[in-house]
Amino acid sequence: MADAVRDLYSQRRYPALSHPETHPGVIAAAARCGGVTAPALPESCKLLEVGCASGHNLLPLAARFPESTFVGIDFSDTAIRRARGHAEALGLDNITFEHADLHEWRPASEDFDYLIAHGMLSWVADATKVALLELVQGSLAPDGIACIGYNTLPGWSLRQEAAAMVKALPDLGGDLDTTLATLAEAASHGGTPYTAHLAAIYEDMRRKGPDILPFDELGPVCDPLHFGQVIQWTGQHGLRYLGESTLSGNLPPEIAPEALEKLQPLAGDPVRFQQTVDLLSGRTHRTSLFCRSGLSLDTKTTSSVTLHFAARLLVRPLPEKAVHGEIIEHFHAALNAAWPSSQAVAGLMEQCARRLGPRWDPARGAKTVADWLYQAARLGWVELRTDPIETATRPSSRPTLSPLNLRHARDREALVDGFHRSCGFPDRHWRVVGALDGGHTIDDLRALAATEAPELDLEPWLQHLAARGLFIQQ
Ligand SMILES: C[S@@+](CC[C@H](N)C(=O)[O-])C[C@H]1O[C@@H](n2cnc3c(N)ncnc32)[C@H](O)[C@@H]1O
Repeated sequence: MADAVRDLYSQRRYPALSHPETHPGVIAAAARCGGVTAPALPESCKLLEVGCASGHNLLPLAARFPESTFVGIDFSDTAIRRARGHAEALGLDNITFEHADLHEWRPASEDFDYLIAHGMLSWVADATKVALLELVQGSLAPDGIACIGYNTLPGWSLRQEAAAMVKALPDLGGDLDTTLATLAEAASHGGTPYTAHLAAIYEDMRRKGPDILPFDELGPVCDPLHFGQVIQWTGQHGLRYLGESTLSGNLPPEIAPEALEKLQPLAGDPVRFQQTVDLLSGRTHRTSLFCRSGLSLDTKTTSSVTLHFAARLLVRPLPEKAVHGEIIEHFHAALNAAWPSSQAVAGLMEQCARRLGPRWDPARGAKTVADWLYQAARLGWVELRTDPIETATRPSSRPTLSPLNLRHARDREALVDGFHRSCGFPDRHWRVVGALDGGHTIDDLRALAATEAPELDLEPWLQHLAARGLFIQQ
């Protein structure tokens, strides 16, 4: 099976993707909430990515954090050559890509503050799963944090059957998309929750499309795992679970607050609690954080840690009942005014204090904001991270992508936005994207769009890209 995985990656190019939940600024905030007292900051850390493919996830980090060191390993020769080509062209001397099999590769020393293994554990043969966990164990610094993504059971189980059926079926009258569309359509007539679920799975597989499916549902290995199984394996490799890489990941949106109350008796057994949450929510994926079992954690961690982070609204507007009381009203107004940037909570609180004048009581104000922020992050209303991110609401007169994103645009590969999210475009838009090089005025871009992509509404499009932090500040 290991060879089938190797064959796949030597024959086909894995799509270029970045994963915001693996950003060290996001991980550091979640790890601090999980009790790690002083996680390394992204501005000065050492980070290893195992299975880094062509470096799409690592390169923007290396460009943004020049004082940090990044290492990526992958056994795909073509992917590593591509990654090295980008690093050399951009003059990034803080990143190294190694062409290596994780079964054999070992770092010079156990001192990585972060280790990312995204798209690995569920997608490699069992012997490689073990080798991966051994590598994590042998690479992490004493207070390092590993971020491991995998597909989960029982949420993935029907998808597993649905995918097996697609693999086993002769073509239902054409290509893969036609097969999936036919199955989705057939299921949708059933009118039961089961058939609706199945139809939604096939529609989701259509959305992933032929670029991703051969590596995921239709790959040679796609093993969803029970959370309890992952905890057992990682425990055997000296690793301890800290929580998910985002606070909202600990509490899937499908779990209602009333359900949580019913689960209170499980509060003392986090693994069974999380396993129950997986069952109730039907979640299909986790990005979990681990530290070494011996690391001493701050068991008295409170919501006050959020005051040291940067925050950004993810839901606008928030439900009315979410914003209650004078302090939160002012704090929320400051957050809203800062959007789309992610701003230091301390600065937002200062604005709040100014607005409230003598009615601001520092101790009570800080506690109220911290408690609210923690809950808002758990509910997915707010993103917390350690690194503030300044973005513009409008483009400049000559919108300019970063040199790395200009290379991606040239190759028609997804750009990576200021929040580390992948940003793809329809084929017709790429020439306009490629012209976002600082050499073209808005009028030039309008003329280009008129011929290349007449349906493109240029100004709102540029504003959207600006809000995603895609333009460098000049
Ligand atoms: C599903 S892709 C994930 C890529 C990237 N981490 C992501 O999530 O977008 C898996 C990657 O792991 C690499 N890989 C698989 N088995 C490996 C092994 N034994 N040693 C090194 N790399 C491996 C593949 O070449 C491929 O680039």
